[in-house]
Amino acid sequence: MQVNIGGLVMKNPVTVGSGTFGYGQEYDRYFDVSRLGAVTVKSLSLQPRAGNRPPRLVETPAGMLNAIGLQNVGIEAYLRDKLPFLRERGCTVIGNIYGYSPEEYAQLAEILEREGGADAIEANLSCPNVHDAKTRGCKLVSQSPERVAEYTRAVKAATRLPVFIKLSPNVMDITEPALAAEEAGADGLSLINTLLGMGIDPETRRPILSNIVGGLSGPAIRPVAVKMVWDAARAVRIPIIGMGGICTAEDAVQFLLAGASAVAVGCASFRRPDTALRVVEGLEAYCARQGVADISELVGAMKVD
Ligand SMILES: Cc1cc2nc3c(=O)[nH]c(=O)nc-3n(C[C@H](O)[C@H](O)[C@H](O)COP(=O)(O)O)c2cc1C
Repeated sequence: MQVNIGGLVMKNPVTVGSGTFGYGQEYDRYFDVSRLGAVTVKSLSLQPRAGNRPPRLVETPAGMLNAIGLQNVGIEAYLRDKLPFLRERGCTVIGNIYGYSPEEYAQLAEILEREGGADAIEANLSCPNVHDAKTRGCKLVSQSPERVAEYTRAVKAATRLPVFIKLSPNVMDITEPALAAEEAGADGLSLINTLLGMGIDPETRRPILSNIVGGLSGPAIRPVAVKMVWDAARAVRIPIIGMGGICTAEDAVQFLLAGASAVAVGCASFRRPDTALRVVEGLEAYCARQGVADISELVGAMKVD
């Protein structure tokens, strides 16, 4: 079950979607989180953030819309209050980071490496829920291949840790930002962040989310995510962490067959907190049943004739 993705060794290919698993400790009473291949923590910024006003979560027919707006404790409190639990448990940690400029991302990556705060960096270039003048009018960095390259280079120059670039599905062609990240030196990609969406209450005629627009996640986006992983995997040589609507081991296998080398369980953990562990166990059972000796055999192994 062990995988090595871009220099990050994981005991199994299953992690969690940033923002859906807190800092790991929140799930401790449900299962031993060190059983996961890695724990990906909520996006960390230099300063703490309160996020957007509620309502900022709403259920949809096959998933949910969120406009959390990157609420997080900030890098300092993470290192002081959250990291010790993850280290005591022996978890492999993917430190997801969010900033307002290439310099801020670089600073966050540098701090995480220096303080032993992560075993790999995941740069979130694709949060749909933050509006800020400093983003220079382009809402999502990952919608511009040039800016993806600029941000990737900045993070790579700041750390020797493996760097994964998390991309948005809100683009015409995912291979453009994927190739830009690879050419700028990324060690891997994380696909996909949420799809932009919104809802309106017909009675009040008001938007359901205070931010008006949010990000759609859950089973509804799984076919889109599998397709984007498949598109990206044929374009780049670097490994991909695939995510989007994974609820079961069989869902995870789809991502591996499409070309992902690892997977992340996102908002399915809200419904069943031990979903990611069940995916690990289900993948073991799938491999035994299918006679798969090494999970990496499945990567990109979709049969088409
Ligand atoms: C409530 C919520 C908060 C999220 N926060 C973050 C975040 O802080 N950083 C990030 O990179 N992705 C964030 N995401 C995106 C997820 O990590 C994941 O990419 C997306 O939800 C698709 O996976 P899923 O359908 O399995 O949830 C968030 C998703 C949800 C539902």
